[in-house]
Amino acid sequence: MRPARPIRPLRFATVALTAAALTLPLLSGVATAEPSAQRKDPHSHAKQDRLRAAAPKGFYVGTAAAGGGHHLEQDYPDPFTYDKEYRKILGQQFSSVSPENQMKWDAIHPERDRYDFAAADAIVDFAAKHGQVVRGHTLLWHSQNPAWLEQGDFTKAELRAILRDHITTVVGRYAGRIQQWDVANEIFDGEGNLRTQENIWIRELGPGIVADAFRWAHRADPRAKLFLNDYGVESVNAKSDAYLALVKDLRAQRVPVHGFSAQAHLSTRYGFPGDLEQNLRRFDALGLETAITELDVRMDLPESGVPTPAQLTQQAEYYERALTACLAVEDCNSFTIWGFTDKYSWVPVFFQGEGSATVMTEDFSRKPAFYALLAALKRA
Ligand code: G3I
Repeated sequence: MRPARPIRPLRFATVALTAAALTLPLLSGVATAEPSAQRKDPHSHAKQDRLRAAAPKGFYVGTAAAGGGHHLEQDYPDPFTYDKEYRKILGQQFSSVSPENQMKWDAIHPERDRYDFAAADAIVDFAAKHGQVVRGHTLLWHSQNPAWLEQGDFTKAELRAILRDHITTVVGRYAGRIQQWDVANEIFDGEGNLRTQENIWIRELGPGIVADAFRWAHRADPRAKLFLNDYGVESVNAKSDAYLALVKDLRAQRVPVHGFSAQAHLSTRYGFPGDLEQNLRRFDALGLETAITELDVRMDLPESGVPTPAQLTQQAEYYERALTACLAVEDCNSFTIWGFTDKYSWVPVFFQGEGSATVMTEDFSRKPAFYALLAALKRA
């Protein structure tokens, strides 16, 4: 999601949650009380308190692995590489990881004739070591492209060759190790029109390039499930309608598109998208897999920087409802949150005055939202 106007990074407000806030019952009636063992050691993640262990078989609970992007402008070192506590929780709690920035063009293909796989390799290796699957993100996008590409003076034939080479090289490198790829990311605008100006590929090569991207990715890794991914498509609306029409069109051409995913960057400023399940079902009915890929729920922070118990309860309800919607749809088997700790969330960097969007505080204390997810997974 791109904000209208980028905001200078703020220092993250330290959010200290009270024990009372952590034990609030949810509006939806889900029990969120901390297990007694947890009260003794708030940071111990015993097996019964792990999201991945609570998930039904074949259902993946994921998170973005923090690194690159906005983190480069902060005064901490690369989170995925250097934060031990962070890595421990990442391995314990999640069964799927998504590189937050490390597989984007500007990170993995910094110069025309040079790829830099170091950061992406580290995540894929970590995932293998921890028995996790990986969601690759992303291959065709209008954002985070390197200057050599966006400002280069290429012929159409050259551009096409550049994209084909990129997809073949990157997808091929991780063949067999990536469960799902976000092949095309955010290709429609809010009105459901293709981004024919912002997206270099569509602008220069026409809409047919989307189909080619899927074909090249499939050739490079026939086992990976290939997704269309976007924000603002949680509900039945002009944008999700556009995706539905595109999927039908691509399928009619026998293009290997396997999934549709809603990022789900939500805010308590707005109501929960109550037709999320209904919307996912539309894609499920076409034979596609569906997924939630970047869930977070931001809120307007009070002056103290500390969310109120009522705010945390509302947030927990959003998290739980998003998960429940996905669990209810047969082939929605991948549910990913865009980071698990406020310490590294992109939200305060992009939205002034908003934050606390993840399920853990900066010191990894678990919020009601965490327990709401845990309880919903256990129920499933
Ligand atoms: O463009 C400058 C570049 O010129 C400079 O060299 C570099 C280093 O300081 O900063 C660059 O911009 C940064 C960009 O990442 C590229 O590295 C932005 O300031 C930074 O805010 C940006 O953040 C990432 C953002 O995507 C970019 O769109 C976030 O870390 C990342 O969490 C976020 O993730 C996206 C998903 O990929 C797609 N869906 C929405 C989601 C949230 O925006």
